[in-house]
Amino acid sequence: MTTIVDLDGVSPVAEGRVVGPPPPADVLLDVRGLKTHFHVMDGTVAAVDGVDFQLRRGETLGLVGESGCGKSVTSLTIMRLIDIPPGEIVAGEIWFDGREILSLPMSDMRQIRGADMSMIFQEPMTSLNPVFTVGNQIAEAVKAHRQVSNKEAWNRAVEMLEAVGIPSPERRVKQYPHELSGGMRQRVMIAMALSCDPKLIIADEPTTALDVTIQAQILELIKSMQERTGAALLLITHDLAVVAETVQRMAVMYAGKIVETGTAEDVLLNPKHPYTQGLITSIPSNVARGQRLNVIRGTVPNPFRMPGGCRFQPRCPMAFEPCRDFDPPLRTTDPGRRAACWLHYPASERPTSRDVATSATPMQTERVAKQ
Ligand SMILES: Nc1ncnc2c1ncn2[C@@H]1O[C@H](COP(=O)(O)OP(=O)(O)OP(=O)(O)O)[C@@H](O)[C@H]1O
Ligand SMILES: [Mg+2]
Repeated sequence: MTTIVDLDGVSPVAEGRVVGPPPPADVLLDVRGLKTHFHVMDGTVAAVDGVDFQLRRGETLGLVGESGCGKSVTSLTIMRLIDIPPGEIVAGEIWFDGREILSLPMSDMRQIRGADMSMIFQEPMTSLNPVFTVGNQIAEAVKAHRQVSNKEAWNRAVEMLEAVGIPSPERRVKQYPHELSGGMRQRVMIAMALSCDPKLIIADEPTTALDVTIQAQILELIKSMQERTGAALLLITHDLAVVAETVQRMAVMYAGKIVETGTAEDVLLNPKHPYTQGLITSIPSNVARGQRLNVIRGTVPNPFRMPGGCRFQPRCPMAFEPCRDFDPPLRTTDPGRRAACWLHYPASERPTSRDVATSATPMQTERVAKQ
């Protein structure tokens, strides 16, 4: 396949990609069959390996899962911030605000990024430039996307610092990042991310680097800013308590795939997938004193040697016949709920050992083809 390489050489996109129909207008973000792999010395890491989810305008979605399951790579792919190589967007579509953005040239993507979708990272020091004042950085972000004068951009910076609860914003706006505390820097990052009124905010572990009391304040701030601006929020975290307090819907990821989606309340109170059940029962606060912590047995699979069939099967207490050979696709279990587990398929729709020989499912074919 021929590829077009942008002038900056970081994001080849396939020429003449054939994509499906756009999603309905109320869907802001539609991620379909996304696969992002990394080709490294030891082989290929299938970091994101078939991710599907939707986010409606103004909706909040939590993306949760253990370390290394592909949450950050998913969000970086949506922002088109994956370095290619070693990364490769192997398959999928990403529809954002009516356009399929994997097909866009990087120059268009740069306009979308920061203006229509913006990201709040875990560690603000790596995203803020130490040699410019915070006011300069916010004003530059505004000027990059809006036709405004220097004065207007500066005023917007002061207004945004005030909006994110920074006291004496006229004084703080002239300070450098190192002059601010960690919590203040994270507020500055949020001010910068929201300075152009994005339609989508992606927050990747936005409070992990902060101490506990500040974490709650920052989460509250993100939530209130999201409600005020009507932006959609994709909140990435491994903390289920944060999800319970902050988002409407959630998607659970395991080993590069989404294994369960639904409203946060439904998923947390009545998890369908054994992995989600394991995550929930391993929360320390759920365990009575003196009782053993119920951690999920086994470890996250080696990314170079993913198990065949369902990737959770070697750790799954409920694994049965089809799980070893066949990877279950996401299936609607109840209205608004999906789970990728053979337990939730009627027996007539589960593959059997006879299907192994014929490689009946596309995923099985693919796995065999790679071996
Ligand atoms: N640039 C890269 N090169 C090679 N492998 C990578 C690269 N970036 C990520 N990976 C691999 O992709 C997989 C998914 O990583 P990712 O950072 O998305 O996990 P995560 O779910 O965000 O984890 P965490 O909760 O620790 O942030 C991991 O196995 C990781 O080692
Ligand atoms: Mg991450």
